[in-house]
Amino acid sequence: MTPVAVYPGSFDPITKGHEDLIRRALSFADTVVVAVAVNSRKQPLFTPAERVSLIRQAVTDPRVEVRSFDGLLADFVRAAGATLIVRGLRAVSDFEYEFQMALMNRNLAPGVETVFLVPAFDLTYVSSSLVREVARFGADVSRLVHPAVAQALKQKFGK
Ligand code: PNS
Repeated sequence: MTPVAVYPGSFDPITKGHEDLIRRALSFADTVVVAVAVNSRKQPLFTPAERVSLIRQAVTDPRVEVRSFDGLLADFVRAAGATLIVRGLRAVSDFEYEFQMALMNRNLAPGVETVFLVPAFDLTYVSSSLVREVARFGADVSRLVHPAVAQALKQKFGK
């Protein structure tokens, strides 16, 4: 058995917290498919193509594939031949939404398990939304994101 794990999200943009989770997922999955949601409920800063490109620059491990997907995650996971969905849990506040999603995805794709990973302690406060917010006002985010992402944020906000 060669487990394939799908790590879905908005990745708007990828942070060092996401990078840490991908590394952790590679400790039990042979392939990690980072799945960028096109139809996020949120209004994204970066286009799907930009988000995919930034992830590819930040994560160069050949065991990691980066793709975007439209529609249901459960359908994407099945089509990818994956048996695992990886999600990060940073705080208790993440739990309720994650719990509901995991149960809905189990209902839609029986046999696919959701696995929750905890990021490195010093990255637990890092989120894409906070990175976007502070970068918008010109804060230095170089310790929170890959240099390519920091550069892309500077370009977006003209800072
Ligand atoms: O990084 P995010 O925004 O928390 O990721 C949420 C995401 C993209 C994983 C979730 O919204 C999702 O799976 N969207 C695809 C549509 C879908 O399958 N929705 C039902 C989820 S139970």
